[in-house]
Order: sequence, then C-alpha cells, then structure tokens
Amino acid sequence: MSIQNQFEQKKSKQNLELLKRIQELKKKKNAVILAHYYQEDSIQEIADFLGDSLYLAQQAARVKEDIIIFAGVHFMAETAKIINPKKKVLLPDLKAGCSLAESCPSKDFAIFKAKYPNAVVVSYINCSAEIKTLSDIVCTSSNAKKIINSIPKEKEIIFAPDKNLGAYLNKETGRKMILWEGSCVVHEAFSFEKILDLIKKYPKAKFIAHPESKSTILEVANFIGSTSALLNFVKNDNAYQYIVATEAGILHQMQKHCPGKLFIPAPIDDDTCACSECAYMKLNTLEKLYNCLVNEKPEINMNSDILNAARLPIERMLEIS
Ligand code: 13P
Ligand code: SF4
Repeated sequence: MSIQNQFEQKKSKQNLELLKRIQELKKKKNAVILAHYYQEDSIQEIADFLGDSLYLAQQAARVKEDIIIFAGVHFMAETAKIINPKKKVLLPDLKAGCSLAESCPSKDFAIFKAKYPNAVVVSYINCSAEIKTLSDIVCTSSNAKKIINSIPKEKEIIFAPDKNLGAYLNKETGRKMILWEGSCVVHEAFSFEKILDLIKKYPKAKFIAHPESKSTILEVANFIGSTSALLNFVKNDNAYQYIVATEAGILHQMQKHCPGKLFIPAPIDDDTCACSECAYMKLNTLEKLYNCLVNEKPEINMNSDILNAARLPIERMLEIS
C-alpha cells in the first residue's frame, strides 16, 4: 500500500473514532450541530442540521437543546446567538471569519448610511452584528428578492455589504439600490476565461452560480441561486453535467444526492489551485469540533446592547421568509 493510502486509511480511522465520541458527547451534553454546506465532508456528515444561511438561521431559532455548535463562520454563529440568546453557542474556530463581513466595518458604514437618511437599509446576513444593528432588515441569498420586493417601490434602499449580490438584485428587481462596495474573496476569484473554456469543453454541461459571483460570470449562468437552490436545481434538473461556481464544499452534497451526475468545480484565477475553497470555513475541523464540545469553548458572547439591537432586523427577515 502506498504511503498516501496508508495515511488516508489512518485518517479515516481517526475520523470514525472522533465521530463516535462526538455523537456520545452530544447526547450527554444535550447539544446540537448546525453546519453549512461549505464545511468539510466529515462535518457535513455529522451535522443534525445542514443547509444554507437561511435554513440554519431558521433552525437556530427552533432548537431545544442547551448547546448549539455552529460549524460555519463567525457571523452565522453570532446570528444563532442573537436569535437564541439563552443558548450556549460554540464555534469550533473563532478565527473562522468572512471576507465579505470584514469588507464592511461598522464605523465606515455608519458614515455611509448617514448620507442617505431616508433609505431603508437591507443587509445581507454575511455581516457583523454591529452592521445588523444599523440595518432595518436582514436577508440571505435565498430570500433576498422577496425581502427587496417587500419594500415599497418609492423607498430608497441601501444594500450592504455585497456589491455583486446587490447588482444582481438590482437587475432582478428593477430597483436602483445604493450598494456598499464589499465582496467575497471566494466568489470573486472565479476566472471568467477558464469558465468559458470549460463550457466549450463540456457542451452538455449546465453552468450554475452563486449570486455572490461577479456579473460577467452570472451573465453566462444557466441557473443562479443560494447553495440550497443550487443543490435543489441539480437534484431536479435533467442534465448530467454541471460546472459549479460556488465554494467547493457544496459538491459533496451534490455528488451524494446525484451519484450518476458529474460536477465540475468552477476554476479560479490562480494556477496553484483548481477550485475555490473558503479558507475561513475550512478552519473548522472535526478535531476542533470535538474539542469545542469537550471544553464548551470557544463560545460566542457579545455586548447585550448589540445582541438586542441586532435581533429585530433578523426577526423581520424570519417573519417574511
Ligand atoms: P448561502 O448558503 O446562504 O447561499 O450563502 C453562501 C455563503 O457565502 C455563506 O457564507
Ligand atoms: Fe464569507 Fe465568502 Fe467564505 Fe461565504 S464563502 S463565508 S461569503 S468568505
């Protein structure tokens, strides 16, 4: 057996052992695991609830268990804490941030917002709790169109922090929202030229993309949607090949639900790596998840004023969804 195979075998044995211990501890401590589709495969497999940002926020509002382990990034765990402040919310790695959330510092955003005193502020859930306190309503990529359409046509709207999603929504809804200039490093990294080459190479493949991608890329997509929408699309569609422009973690579920289909991760503008991975999401590992369950930390805690002020715009979103 090659050294590589021996290594893989050892790792999968260790993973099985960790999975068993996590299951036992979870029961003993009355904990629940919420995980996003961009998490590594083994974490997706052990999750009690696996989904996109909206689904995870909805589940966070409903959980009965005492401890929520959020296998995702910081803004997601923070949202779970805001919705359910009495629960203990743990994040396996506190450094699991988000480039999009970081692209919108609250002090700068407050100055920007002050320039448009009559505007309704819609913030994409990928932002800090401080930005949520400055927002009228939150949205995710699943419900963004619905949320925007719920705002009277004559109202001016500020949309933050994702300029790509904002531009896509402007096109879809016919609005002229004022956009904050933020973006996600993972979705901005896709190479338009390499995607066109792949489309030529696989003429029967459908090209599907997340709306955090740049407009040039969205223009050539056969389908655009949130991670859950992309997954549902490939499950129900009759094609057999797909080029997928979002974080590569989603391919695990696509392959699992559609074993007979071919999924090709969209390439990025970088010769060192074939597909786009979110370095923040991938900071969480099965081992860190186990340790955080053992030690009940790192825990998400925040200033109670921020916690309370950030709840209303999230609750408004949950009501409309
Ligand atoms: P959704 O899963 O809600 O589509 O969001 C994608 C994302 O970028 C999460 O960080
Ligand atoms: Fe943030 Fe982009 Fe990673 Fe999503 S994929 S968590 S938006 S950096």
